[in-house]
Amino acid sequence: MSRRVLIATDKPFAKVARDQIADILKAAGYEVALLEGYTEKAQLLAAVSDVDAMIIRSDKIDREVIDAAKRLSLVVRAGAGYDNIDGAAARAKNVDAMNTPGQNANAVAELVFGMMVYMARNKFNGKPGTELRGKSLGIHAYGAVGRAVAEIARGFGMTVRAFDPYVDGATIRAGGIEPVATVEELYRRSDYVTLHMPATKETKGSIGQKLLTLMPKRGTLLNTARKEVINEAELLKALEERADLRYATDIEPEAATVAVIKEKFADRVYMTPKKMGAQTEEANVNAGLAAARQIVGYFERNEKKFIVNP
Ligand code: 3PG
Repeated sequence: MSRRVLIATDKPFAKVARDQIADILKAAGYEVALLEGYTEKAQLLAAVSDVDAMIIRSDKIDREVIDAAKRLSLVVRAGAGYDNIDGAAARAKNVDAMNTPGQNANAVAELVFGMMVYMARNKFNGKPGTELRGKSLGIHAYGAVGRAVAEIARGFGMTVRAFDPYVDGATIRAGGIEPVATVEELYRRSDYVTLHMPATKETKGSIGQKLLTLMPKRGTLLNTARKEVINEAELLKALEERADLRYATDIEPEAATVAVIKEKFADRVYMTPKKMGAQTEEANVNAGLAAARQIVGYFERNEKKFIVNP
């Protein structure tokens, strides 16, 4: 029986990526199934029942999905963050989970600058704004996206600093930017702070009022990482306490938070309608094709690199 691979994406890949993903899998002799833009979990549960591997994006792969996927060996998250996969539930059923780190980093980094310019120019309302040149940028977490941001920031003439408890100072310095010793120092010294950490036990709810109110006048926080890293109640308190603070994100906060933002802070908060940092044709191709190649490597050559639930 030939292997069957499901591409299950609530947020579909660009056609150019989807076609090439299918080509790679078919060339290896696999059948390809597609579930895009589904609205009910039941559709996902039905689609996974007879597949050996699947490619997903931010789609939630919980215990119920794993249990419904009777033949599943491998799930590949086409992207960086894999907090949407229950890795332990997968491991318990001998299912490997992988990600494709770095493949969509440039797309996210470019969006950060799009949002920074938009906020610096008062959401394009026609009133005099400010420029990025000469301003300070704090990169909170220096992984693949953080590095891509640092590279672009040089072209804008910004002073760039980074904080990452898991990356040593020498590595950060090698990227031509200044490491700072504490997270507080990063916020204190940055006109803009951009978040690029995964959602983990340590990071969830870690960005709140204390850090935000350390920022200089007109400080702007950019969140293209994860909704969960923000303490939303404290974000609102910080926006209340400091009428100059601003926030831009491509991840919609909780509905109650959105309601307060719309009522009180609409002029200095920007939220894209959908999570779109990685939503470019190029990033879809990079991450999607990497995922397809990893599946082929896994089945044909026993390649285990990028497993995230060992
Ligand atoms: C990632 O973790 O790679 C990004 O958040 C992209 O998520 P997406 O595939 O849902 O756009």
